[in-house]
Amino acid sequence: MTPSELVQRLRASGSVFAEEEAALLLAEASDAASLEAMTAQRVQGEPLEQIVGWAEFDGMRFVVEPGVFVPRHRSEFLVERAAALGRRGAVVLDLCCGIGALGLAVRARLGDAELHCTDVDPAEVRCARRNVGAYGSVYEGDLYASLPDTLGGRVELLLANAPYVPSGELRLMPPEAREHEHPVALDGGVDGLAVHRRAIAGAPAWLAPGGRVLIELSAEQAVIAASMMREVGLLAEIVTEEDDDGDETTVVIGTLVIGTVVTGTR
Ligand SMILES: C[S@@+](CC[C@H](N)C(=O)[O-])C[C@H]1O[C@@H](n2cnc3c(N)ncnc32)[C@H](O)[C@@H]1O
Repeated sequence: MTPSELVQRLRASGSVFAEEEAALLLAEASDAASLEAMTAQRVQGEPLEQIVGWAEFDGMRFVVEPGVFVPRHRSEFLVERAAALGRRGAVVLDLCCGIGALGLAVRARLGDAELHCTDVDPAEVRCARRNVGAYGSVYEGDLYASLPDTLGGRVELLLANAPYVPSGELRLMPPEAREHEHPVALDGGVDGLAVHRRAIAGAPAWLAPGGRVLIELSAEQAVIAASMMREVGLLAEIVTEEDDDGDETTVVIGTLVIGTVVTGTR
């Protein structure tokens, strides 16, 4: 298959960035047979990152296995905000970590961190363990359930890019996500905030005094999440960034103000 035939096949299947995708597949394929196999997967709608086995995020490469959530570039805004609020060596918890990209990116930006990552999906956890390696610890379980008690009251940056698509809107997602990423990574319940409600309720018990929780959401959801944060005693702020296409990314930041008496349990 010539490069231009490849571009044509990708474009015919609906690829918007056919030239870029063709260049990547040509670079990754070891021979003509693997190029044909990869092209067939792509034409059938599999995410490119799952086909080649890696994704670029915040200037770093991460292992991606079939079925896991591919980190979105929009989440680099959360990473940037977290790093701006952190310090070298900070205690970072990546809750609902997926393949661990956000936590590792924050760690890289800080220069170093005590990194803890956790996720409920065994496939994500397996992938996160490959990515995190010796740079931190990866746990498997629902939200805070598998974290060591010794982490309580020590987390300086709690990153939570949890599923936030309302269940009724899942069918509107691109097939790439709907058909190739596990539903647990996407489905946020009726209002998209089911996981966040529990994550925010539990956050104060894990945060260090002055510690921050950062959550990516839609602008409308962010307002609700900010009031959930205030209800549990966190100071809440909403920050947004607009990309070149005019798409906004919103992050809610909750701060455990020094001197706050934490009443929640771990
Ligand atoms: C939208 S994906 C984001 C993954 C990662 N934070 C990122 O930005 O690349 C949401 C992740 O939350 C995880 N998740 C969903 N419900 C969870 C729960 N109750 N406890 C822990 N992880 C959960 C999913 O398995 C998935 O990896």
